[in-house]
Amino acid sequence: MSGSKEKKLQTVVVQGLGFVGAAMAVAVANAVDVNGKPFFKVIGVDLPTNSGKERIKKINSGLFPFKTVDNKIITGTKNAVSQGNLSATTDDNVFREADIVLVSINLDLSYVDKKIPTVNLNMFKNAMHTLGKNIKENTLIIVETTVPPGTCEKVVKPIIQEHLKERGINPYSVYIAHSYERVMPGANYLDSIINFWRVYAGTTVEAADYCEAFLTKIINVKKYPLTRLKSTTASETAKVLENSYRAVNIAFIEEWGRFAEDVGFDLYEVIDAVRIRPTHSNIRQPGFGVGGYCLTKDPLFAKIAAKEIFGLSDHEFQYSSQAVELNRVMPLVTLEKLKKYFNGSVKGKKILLMGISYREDVGDTRFSPAETFFVQAHQEGAQVVPHDPLVEYWEEMQIQTSKDLPDLKLFDAVVFSVPHNDYRKIDFKQWLKTNKDCLMFDANNVLTEVQRNSIQEIGNKILSIGRG
Ligand SMILES: NC(=O)c1ccc[n+]([C@@H]2O[C@H](COP(=O)([O-])OP(=O)(O)OC[C@H]3O[C@@H](n4cnc5c(N)ncnc54)[C@H](O)[C@@H]3O)[C@@H](O)[C@H]2O)c1
Repeated sequence: MSGSKEKKLQTVVVQGLGFVGAAMAVAVANAVDVNGKPFFKVIGVDLPTNSGKERIKKINSGLFPFKTVDNKIITGTKNAVSQGNLSATTDDNVFREADIVLVSINLDLSYVDKKIPTVNLNMFKNAMHTLGKNIKENTLIIVETTVPPGTCEKVVKPIIQEHLKERGINPYSVYIAHSYERVMPGANYLDSIINFWRVYAGTTVEAADYCEAFLTKIINVKKYPLTRLKSTTASETAKVLENSYRAVNIAFIEEWGRFAEDVGFDLYEVIDAVRIRPTHSNIRQPGFGVGGYCLTKDPLFAKIAAKEIFGLSDHEFQYSSQAVELNRVMPLVTLEKLKKYFNGSVKGKKILLMGISYREDVGDTRFSPAETFFVQAHQEGAQVVPHDPLVEYWEEMQIQTSKDLPDLKLFDAVVFSVPHNDYRKIDFKQWLKTNKDCLMFDANNVLTEVQRNSIQEIGNKILSIGRG
C-alpha cells in the first residue's frame, strides 16, 4: 500500500446491501477526515432481485432500506446520498472502479436430509467470481460475511487469483482480508459499527496492514482498539466462536428457567445476584427463544468447516450443535405452558402474539422464535394474531401484522415474546378493561415490574417464563 493511496478519495464498493452491507455502506460514506471531508466514495451493489432492487431504490432516494429506530443511520444515509458519496446499483461493472471491496453478502445454512448442516457455497463462490472478473490490481477485498473458518484461504484466494492470472494481472497484487461484523440492528445500529471493537486479519501482512488502515478511518479506534489476528482462519473462527458461545450460554439457562417456575422462585432475581460476580456478568436469562440470522446458523459453521473445508471427521462440536437445537425448540416451552393453563389444549383459543421480530426494536423476522411458536400453535388448532410495532407484513408467514393494540374482548391470551420498547409503555389499566379473563403471558421478561403489578391488581392472571 502506498502513502498516496491513503490521501486520495478512494472508491469503496460494498457487495450485498442487507442488514450488514447497507449499514456498513452508510458508516463508510460518513467517515470523514479532520477537515470534515469524506474519505470515501461508496457504491453499494446488490442482485437484481425484487428485494435487491428495492434496497437500491431506497438508498438512492436517501432512505435507509430497513425499518430502524436509529436516527443516526437514517440521517447518515440521507446526508451521504445528498452530498453525493453514497449510491447503489445492480451493475457489477462498478467493481472495476473499486479500490476496496467489502463483501457483505449472505451465506446461508441448509440441511442435507433435513439433519446434517451444511452451507451451499455456490452463491458465495459466484460473488467471488464476479470480483475476480472485475477488480483491478491492488484492490483490497475485506470479507465481512460470516463464513466457515478457512474460507478466505481455501475458497476466496484461489478463485480471485485464478481470475487475475487469466486476465494477465499479477495474482498476488490483490489484498485479501477478513474482518467480521458485530453490528447490532436496533437503537444503536450505526454506533454498533463505529463505536465498537473489531477483529481483523489478512492473508498476508500487507493485506492486514491495508485492512487496518481502512478500519481506522471508519471506527473510533482510540476508544475501541482493533484486534489483529495472525490468520484469516483465526478471524473467521473468532466470529463463529463468539456466536457459538452466546448460543450455548442461552441454551444453558433454559432448564434453569423451568426449574424456577416449577419450584416457585424468580430466576431473574437469582441471575442478577450471580451477575454481580465479574466472571459471571454475562450469564443469559431465560426467555421466549433465540432467533435471527446469525445465532441460528453460526454455531454450526466450525463443524461444517472441519468436515467440508479441512476434511476432518472427528470434530462434532456437540455443545454448539445441541445449543442450536435447544434454542430452536425453546418457543415450544411457552406453548406447553399455555396448553397446561388451558387444560391440555390450545385448540380454538385466540392468542395475541406481541412481537414477531427476532429481537427488541428491530423489524427483522428472519428465523424468529415467533415463527416456531406460530406454526406449532396453528397446527394445534389455536388462532394466533401477530402484533409488532416494527413489522407491517410478516414475510415468512405471509401475513399482515397489527400495529395497534386490539380490543382484548376476543382474545384468550396475550403472549409477550419480544421486549420492544413500545410494550413497556402499555397502560394495562386501560387495555384490560374489556377482558378480565384474558391471560397475560410474559415469555421474555418484556413487562416492567409496575406493569406486572398492575396486571395483578386488575385481577388478570399472569404467567411468565423464568418466574415461579
Ligand atoms: N444481520 C446481522 O445482524 C449480522 C450481524 C453480524 C454479521 N452478519 C453476517 O453478515 C452477513 C450478511 O448478513 P445480512 O444480515 O446483511 O444478510 P442479508 O441477507 O440481509 O443481506 C445480504 C445481501 O447480499 C445480497 N447478495 C447476495 N449475493 C450477492 C451478490 N453476488 N452480489 C451482490 N449482492 C449479493 C443479497 O441480495 C442481500 O441483499 C452474513 O454472513 C451474516 O451472518 C449479520
